[in-house]
Amino acid sequence: MGHFVITGGKPLKGEISLQGAKNAVLPILAATVLINGTSELHNCPALRDVTASLKILRYLGCKAEQTGDVVTVDASQITGFEVSDDLMREMRSSFVFVGAMAARCGFAEITYPGGCELGARPIDLHLKAFRAMGMKITEEHGKIYCDARRLRPAAIHLDFPSVGATENIMLAAVFTPGVTRIVNAAKEPEIEDLQNFLNRAGAKIYGAGGSEIYIEGVPSLKSVTHRVIPDRIVGATYLMAAAVTRGELLIRNIEPSHMDGILPVLEECGCEIGYPRDGILNIKCKERMGATDKVRTLPYPGFPTDAQAPLMAMLATACGSSMITETIFESRFKHVEELIKMGANIKTDGRVAVIRGVRELSGAEVTAGDLRGGAALMLAALGASGTSKLHKIELIDRGYEAPESILASLGAKIKRVE
Ligand code: UD1
Repeated sequence: MGHFVITGGKPLKGEISLQGAKNAVLPILAATVLINGTSELHNCPALRDVTASLKILRYLGCKAEQTGDVVTVDASQITGFEVSDDLMREMRSSFVFVGAMAARCGFAEITYPGGCELGARPIDLHLKAFRAMGMKITEEHGKIYCDARRLRPAAIHLDFPSVGATENIMLAAVFTPGVTRIVNAAKEPEIEDLQNFLNRAGAKIYGAGGSEIYIEGVPSLKSVTHRVIPDRIVGATYLMAAAVTRGELLIRNIEPSHMDGILPVLEECGCEIGYPRDGILNIKCKERMGATDKVRTLPYPGFPTDAQAPLMAMLATACGSSMITETIFESRFKHVEELIKMGANIKTDGRVAVIRGVRELSGAEVTAGDLRGGAALMLAALGASGTSKLHKIELIDRGYEAPESILASLGAKIKRVE
C-alpha cells in the first residue's frame, strides 16, 4: 500500500519500451497447467496479477518462478484441482484456471468470483459453455464443483463475445477428442496469443482473431517457449499521458495493428502519430488537444473499455466537448467523481459521460477505484497544475509495471510513498 505524489505540468519526453500484455499473460499462465512439462514465457510483466497467478500455480503443485521478464512454470506434477477462496479473490480473472484444471485433471473446484469493482461480472456464459461440453457443474455455498471427466466436442454460440469465456472454452477443449467450435468468439489479440502459445505446445486450434474458433482435441501438450505480445492498453495509456502533458514520446516493442480502435481517436484529437519502423510508434502533441465527437467502448477491434478511463482523463482538458458511452461494463465511471475533484467538467447519465474540456485541471487528493481508473487519475495529475496525492495505487500495480520509474524517466515529477 502507498500513494503517488505527482506534480503536474511537465511535458513527457523520451523513449520507453512497452511491457508484455497482462491480459495475454494471465490466460497463458492458466494454460501452462495443461502442459506436461515446462513453459518458458518471455516478455512477462512484473505485476501483482502475475504474482497472484504464480501463487495459484504453486497451490496446484506446479513449480513457478519469475526472474526479470521470464516466467518458468513446470507443470509435470499437478497435485490439486482446487483454488482456495483467498487466491480466487486476489485476482478476479482466476476463473480462467477452471478450463485448464478441468482439461488436465478432470475436475475443478473454485469459489464464486462474485461482484467486482466494475459492477456485476457474471460467469453464466462460461458455465453454459462448459455444460454444453458435457461438464457437470454443481454450485453449493459459494463453491463451484466441476466434473469434466466426460467432455465432448460441442458447437458453442456465445451470446456475447466474452474474452474470458472464449479463453476458458479453448482451454477446456484442448484434450477433448473431436472438434469444438466457438461461434461469436471474442477477437482480442490476447486470444490469438493464447492460441499461438497452445499451438506451439502441440495443440490444434484455428481461427483465433476471428469470430469462429475451432479446437481439435490432442492427447497431450509438450514443453514450450513463448514470447508474450506487447500490452496495447498500457501503450494507449502512455500515448495519452504524452497527449495530456503535450509531450513527445517514442514507444518500442509496440504492435500498432492491435491499436486500430485507439489510434484514430488520438489522431482525431490532434495528436501526430508516426510509425517509423515495425514495433515502434511515436506521438507528438504540441497544442491543447481537440475533443472527439463520440466514442463507444466495444469488443475488439472497437475502442477498448480498458482505455476508456485514460481517454476521459485526456479529454477532460481538451478544447471542446466529447461524449463517451461505456457499453461493456455496467459500472466503469468511478474515476469521474475524482476527476471532478481536480476541476473536470463531466456529467454522466447511466453509461454515457459528457466531458466538457476545461483549460487546466488542478492537483488534488484523489483515490483510484479500479486499475484503469487509477491510471486515468495518474494521467490527470501529470497534466494538472500543482501537486496531487493519488491513493490506492496498488490497483494500478495490477496492470502497470513500475509506472513511476517509467514516467520519471520521461521527466515527470512523480514519487511513490510507501
Ligand atoms: C477481459 C479483460 C478485461 C477487459 C474485458 C473486456 C482479462 C484478464 N481481462 O475481462 O481487462 O476489460 O475482457 O475487454 O483479459 N459477461 C457476462 N457473462 C459471462 C462473462 C461476461 O455477462 O459469463 C459480460 C461481462 O459482465 C461484461 C462483458 O460480458 O459486461 C465483457 O466481459 P468479458 O469479455 O468476459 O471480460 P473479462 O474476460 O472478464
